[in-house]
Amino acid sequence: MNKLPRGFSLRDNTLWFRGIDILRLVNAHQSPLRINFPELLIENYTFLTKTVQEVLKSQELSENKFLCGYAIKANQNYDLVVNAAKHTSFLEVSSKNDLDIIEQVKTELGSKMIICHGFKPASTSYFKKIVAMHKKGFTIIPVINSVTELYDFGSLDLKMSIGVRISAKVSFGGSKLPDRFGLTLHEIQQHFAYLTQHKTLSLTMLHMHVANTISDIPQRIQDFDDLFTVYEMMIKAEMKINYICTGGGLPERSYTPDYFYTEYYQKLIFRINQLTTAEYFPILLSESGRFLATETQFVVLKVIAEKNSNDDFSWYVLNGSAINLIPETVLDGNKHFPILPVNFIDRPSKTVICSGATCDQADFFHTQKINLPQIDKNDSLFVTIPGTGAYQESLLGSSRNTPGHCLIEATNELTITASGICSRTTKNDFLQTLGYTKQKSFFKWLFSR
Ligand SMILES: Cc1ncc(COP(=O)(O)O)c(C=O)c1O
Repeated sequence: MNKLPRGFSLRDNTLWFRGIDILRLVNAHQSPLRINFPELLIENYTFLTKTVQEVLKSQELSENKFLCGYAIKANQNYDLVVNAAKHTSFLEVSSKNDLDIIEQVKTELGSKMIICHGFKPASTSYFKKIVAMHKKGFTIIPVINSVTELYDFGSLDLKMSIGVRISAKVSFGGSKLPDRFGLTLHEIQQHFAYLTQHKTLSLTMLHMHVANTISDIPQRIQDFDDLFTVYEMMIKAEMKINYICTGGGLPERSYTPDYFYTEYYQKLIFRINQLTTAEYFPILLSESGRFLATETQFVVLKVIAEKNSNDDFSWYVLNGSAINLIPETVLDGNKHFPILPVNFIDRPSKTVICSGATCDQADFFHTQKINLPQIDKNDSLFVTIPGTGAYQESLLGSSRNTPGHCLIEATNELTITASGICSRTTKNDFLQTLGYTKQKSFFKWLFSR
C-alpha cells in the first residue's frame, strides 16, 4: 500500500486506526459503517493555532493575532459542531438553519463570535434571525455580500459590528464567471463613506474567500490583492480594522506536509505586515471547514460481489453507494478518495474499480484502476474510505441515516471519543426518518477495546 493517511497503520495484515482494530469494529457493528472521531477536529485546530502562533512570533508579532474557527457547512452534525463551539475560536455560518443549529450549542459557544456569510437581504429569514440573535446578546457579525445588504443593515438603527466581503477575481472551480459574493473595489469606493462613517454600523472585518483548496501558495496570496488594497484604503482613512478573514481553503493534513501551513502563513503574515505596523496588525481569522473536519470520519464497506470486466480489471461491488457516501466525487470529477483494504492485506492484489451497489450508472467510487487483495467467493473483504468528514453529508442535505438516492442498505454509525464512549445509530433508523416506524434511534454504548 502507498503512504497511509494520518492515523491509519497496519498490524498483522489488517488496517488499524489510532489503536482501533477496524476489522473487529466492523465485525461487531456491521457494514456499511461510518466512524466519527470528533476529537480530531480539536487536534487539527490546536495544530494550526500553534503553527500560526510560531509564525507570528518569528515575525515579531503577538501570538494573539490569530484565531481559527470552524465553518459549520463542512459538517453540521452535533458531535462536530458542539466540539467546535467549545474548543475552537469562533463559528462561521451561512444560513438561517445554521443559526438554528448554533442556538443548540450556545452554552458551549458562550460569547465567541458567529460570522455570517451568504446572502441575507432584509426580506430573508436569515437577516431576521441575525438581528434577533444580535438583540439576544450573541456576538454575531454579518459579513456584507452586496450593496443592498449594506443598506439593509444600515437602516436598522441598531449598533452592530459588520464585516465586508471583497469580491475575489477568481471564481469557483476556476470558472470565468465573476465572483458573485461581496463588493468590488469600485463598489467599496462608491459606498466608502457609508461603510466607514455609519452612525450605528461599525466595520470591524475585511473578508475574502477563494473557493478552491490552496495548492499554490504565492498564487493564493496574490488572489488576495484586492483585499489588501481595501485594507490599505482603510489604513489611509485611519479606520481600525480588527479582523482580516481569509476564509477557508486549507488542505487536509493527511496529504499535506506540516511546513506547507507554516509557509502559507509566513507569506500571508509577511504581506499584511508590509501594510501596517505591529501595533495595528489585525487579528487574522481562518474559517476552516475541510482542514478541520475531513479527517474526523471514515467509512467501511464490504465487497459483496466481484464482476469480471472484459477489460483488464474487475469490478468490486461495495455494499453502499458512492453517491450517498462520497457525493463530492460525482459533483467534481477531480476529487478522489483513496480506498484502502482493511483485511487480507498480505494476499496478492488485483486491478479493480469499486462500484456502488445501486442501479445508477454513475455509482462508482473512483475512475482510476486501483489494486485490492484478490478474493474467493466466500471471503469478506472490507475496504475503508478515509477522510469523509467534510462536505459529504452536507452535500446530501445531511441525510446521514437515510438510504440516500436509492433504497439500498443504510449506514451504521459509531462516534468514538477519547474516553471510549460511543454513540451508535443503526441502519434500521432510516425507516423512521422516512416516516415508517417509531424506533428509538440513539443509545449510549460503551466501547471496550
Ligand atoms: C465564506 C467561506 N468560508 C469558509 C469556507 C470553508 O472552506 P474550506 O472548507 O475550504 O475550509 C467556505 C466554503 O465554502 C466559505 O464559503
